[in-house]
Amino acid sequence: MNRDDVRKAVSDAVYSRIGRQNAAPLFFANWKMNKSAWDVRAFLKGLRDKALLDRENIAIFPPFPYLYILQSELRYSKAGFGAQDVSESASGAFTGEVSAAMLADCGCRYCIVGHSERRAMHGESDALVARKAAALLKEGVCPVVCVGESLAERESGAYEAVLARQMAAIMPVMGKAKFILAYEPVWAIGTGRAATSEQIGQTHAFLRCQLSAELGDAGTSAPILYGGSVSEGNAAEIGRIPNVSGFLIGGASLDVGKFSNIVGATAPGRP
Ligand code: PGA
Repeated sequence: MNRDDVRKAVSDAVYSRIGRQNAAPLFFANWKMNKSAWDVRAFLKGLRDKALLDRENIAIFPPFPYLYILQSELRYSKAGFGAQDVSESASGAFTGEVSAAMLADCGCRYCIVGHSERRAMHGESDALVARKAAALLKEGVCPVVCVGESLAERESGAYEAVLARQMAAIMPVMGKAKFILAYEPVWAIGTGRAATSEQIGQTHAFLRCQLSAELGDAGTSAPILYGGSVSEGNAAEIGRIPNVSGFLIGGASLDVGKFSNIVGATAPGRP
């Protein structure tokens, strides 16, 4: 087995566990453009002290320069890490971009694509998000594909059509590939106003139906994360909603205490 085969075998093994029904929920920490190298090491020490680096259902998504720290600090840990974005291109004259092969080289198990902040601030289209996901799959990195509607789309009732459009773009790329979907209503991100349990339950069921109808077994087992103002106060309740396979956590993942409490509040077997 060469290095690429080993990496693929590891991500296949991890995915087959995380994709299982009733598997431990996933806790993905999206740090966005926050923290220093010192902060990153302090956070990892905090997780290690709480034995949370032994959990393969935890992953950290730091800014690009700190992936290297994660690669070195987590080399004997089950916890994973990933990037927040990737180029659709493989290599070449693309100043400022980072390729999927480079992320794989740095040991990334996952990479977020289509986060609403990138869709809104960098004009990323559904088609570009799909191409980025395809670039990741080629390198054996699991895409975490974000979808979500704006407040106006939620309030007008158009949100299902918007989500269906975002999903339609990525489905042809996914086929039987292993990927993770993240439902992140734009109006819930960073606002302190998470979607209600009813909204999350209904929307995740809708997304699950879309996935299963289009992708069969691959769609039935793909994890669907919820993201948007997840906190110590609401994680346990959200974690009990059917079709919620875990969380993509922004603000509350910056503080090791809050992040650990979210993990603790939703651990399997806890009420
Ligand atoms: P938030 O961000 O938890 O701060 O709302 C979530 C995200 O953007 O992934």
